[in-house]
Amino acid sequence: MRMVDLIEKKRDGVPLTEQEIRWLIHRYVAREVPDYQMAAFLMAVYFRGMTEGEMEAFTAAMAESGDKVDLSAVPGIKVDKHSSGGVGDTVTLILVPLMGAAGYVMAKLSGRALGHTGGTIDKFEAIPGVRTDLSPGEIIDQAKRIGVVIAEHTEDIAPADKLLYELRDVTGTVPSLPLIVGSILSKKLAGGADLIVLDVKCGDGAFMRTLPEAKELAEALVRVGNKLGKRFSALVTAMDQPLGWMAGNALEVKQAISVLRGEGPPDLEEITLALGAELLLLSGEESDEGKARDKLKRLVDSGAAWKKFVELVAAQGGDVRAVEEPELLPHAEEVQEVWAPRSGYVRKLSARKIGLAAGLLGAGREVKGQTVDPAAGVELLAKVGDRVEREQPLARLHVGRRELVEEAKRLVTEAFEIGTDFPLQGDLILARIR
Ligand code: URA
Repeated sequence: MRMVDLIEKKRDGVPLTEQEIRWLIHRYVAREVPDYQMAAFLMAVYFRGMTEGEMEAFTAAMAESGDKVDLSAVPGIKVDKHSSGGVGDTVTLILVPLMGAAGYVMAKLSGRALGHTGGTIDKFEAIPGVRTDLSPGEIIDQAKRIGVVIAEHTEDIAPADKLLYELRDVTGTVPSLPLIVGSILSKKLAGGADLIVLDVKCGDGAFMRTLPEAKELAEALVRVGNKLGKRFSALVTAMDQPLGWMAGNALEVKQAISVLRGEGPPDLEEITLALGAELLLLSGEESDEGKARDKLKRLVDSGAAWKKFVELVAAQGGDVRAVEEPELLPHAEEVQEVWAPRSGYVRKLSARKIGLAAGLLGAGREVKGQTVDPAAGVELLAKVGDRVEREQPLARLHVGRRELVEEAKRLVTEAFEIGTDFPLQGDLILARIR
């Protein structure tokens, strides 16, 4: 078999066989297919798409490209979640202890910041002392002991995704439905859980900008995922403005702590409870969504989810005092305000621009391997629907990288659209795919 033939086949819209797809993933991971040929293939997929059969073969080959997490020695129902990436999306830090408090096993493998979106691992590591580079043995032991883990996705699990993602990131081929399906599902299929809920983000701050696109992706994820042997459901959720008030690592830890303590913000709490409720429905523990949500809400209100979070932080070497007294979390030496250029209602607030600004301030990476500043980011003081007066502060910039602060300020100013009419506000949960 020759890679050039497979590229030409895809370029001409002829479906590849399962054997051809397995061959190309296998050879690429073995570094026998060069990046330039894979880049050409990815671009052909971007324009031509994949058939259902190709998507299944592609996803399965990626899932089998490396090790799998084996949680069979851990008693209990194993659950997992994945978000297609957003701004202020610190749901994992809340949902993992919440599901642990509900009696489920959740050993979540997560990634780092990517583009304008944050990464759970960077956030969790903003808690002083937290270790996320756990070995498979450590993951299993901790899951047995306390039921919950947040660990970094190692290169041995679905390595095809890591290689392909890096290439997609620099070749304009990230927003391709079959490539996203393969990427997300391969990690989940290799991840050891039985029941998985997916949060497909939709809007300005997401890879899928429109509802039809996001729904199509969510449906494909659930369909292909279920076909490949695990049970999936998905929510499509709004990502036009950031979730909560914070974009940044320690800032989002603070935000997660406030949800776990029952102090909101409501949008973040709502999405977390809705995703958790999907898992209770998938497991069969509940058949009514409202009851499932109430059950989880009670675990927040009783302090059980918070207690599990503290247990999780301690188990991974974190300083428990820093989460009990969040003022002890890393904080920026310099904070600057961005003011409203005019009076009116906040009509739009671009999640993408806020995410980019947080990244420039130091919360994200400009180049691979760069360290992030745990304290840097954007704290919002107004969101869509709020009335603001001229020169009122709209946001606080927690400055990590000084040299880019003016650019960050410009982005945050541009992120706010202020007008005279009160804006229409859409739903947070846009669709459920079961
Ligand atoms: N999230 C992923 O894990 N992969 C993608 O391709 C896009 C979002």
